[in-house]
Amino acid sequence: APTQAAAATKAPAAGKKITLGFSQVGAESGWRTANSKSVQDAAKDAGFDLKFSDAQQKQENQIKAIRNYIQQKVDVIAFSPVVESGWDTVLKEAKDAGIPVILTDRAVDSKDTSLYKTFIGSDFVEEGRRAGKWLVDTYKDAKEQVNIVELQGTTGSAPANDRKAGFEEIIKSNPNLKIIASQTGDFTRAKGKEVMQAFLKAQKKIDVLYAHNDDMALGAIQAIEAAGLKPGKDIIIISVDGVKDGFVAAGEGKINFIVECNPLLGPQLMQAVKDVVDGKEVTKRIVTKEGVFTSEDAKRELPNRQY
Ligand code: AHR
Repeated sequence: APTQAAAATKAPAAGKKITLGFSQVGAESGWRTANSKSVQDAAKDAGFDLKFSDAQQKQENQIKAIRNYIQQKVDVIAFSPVVESGWDTVLKEAKDAGIPVILTDRAVDSKDTSLYKTFIGSDFVEEGRRAGKWLVDTYKDAKEQVNIVELQGTTGSAPANDRKAGFEEIIKSNPNLKIIASQTGDFTRAKGKEVMQAFLKAQKKIDVLYAHNDDMALGAIQAIEAAGLKPGKDIIIISVDGVKDGFVAAGEGKINFIVECNPLLGPQLMQAVKDVVDGKEVTKRIVTKEGVFTSEDAKRELPNRQY
């Protein structure tokens, strides 16, 4: 039998502003910048008191921030977990303090799903599948091995794990499609460039780059050009996100295919916060709607891009 029942969620007094504590992953990419802005703008529009902290891609910083929010007795805690594992203790502390938690963007692997109210964000496995489907289709007539290098996102993060899994699930249908090297670029431009440089040195022939985000692809493009090769032609490039700089590169033919990942989660998050505070039932999983873009689509879509 349970030893201690979790405290019930405490609603703020009537007329009092809702206080939301938000622990952001960091500022590693264009996607993240757009995501932070969306959360900050939407909190302002909703009239919430937002406490925002940047964990600089470190789990211990996020745990500290969450503990801080618990101490400050915020009404709701939301966070985008940098990695999937290791959250149960701190989430249990929030639950015992009666503070509801909402996950945004990235998931946790906790078995106890009562530790959070809902998870709002993309289906990263599906994003990986979309990247894989385009590649399978593009190389359907290939008679020889197609050498793929992969730039993974932050090690242990949901988007890195899932984008890899979804991509591999689809490309295995064609034994000619081979991942010959795969390493983390930590979702940053600098690391993407550095790791691509190493790939170009170590590998005789690279046909395709699959980057888990645009920023790493953009860094890799610099390395490819410095090596005297043409990105998008000598090496086919697939990436995920669809930020403005990614779209510009796609419009120039340097990225061949972008799988969209929508960072504008702020309005959905504020709605969920309000519902949770009002004691309404919220769906356990809120999936973001997203598309895919070829170079041609990117050219057309670029003027409408908000981020
Ligand atoms: O969690 C979403 C991912 O995190 C984005 O695809 C990437 O750019 C960001 O850093």
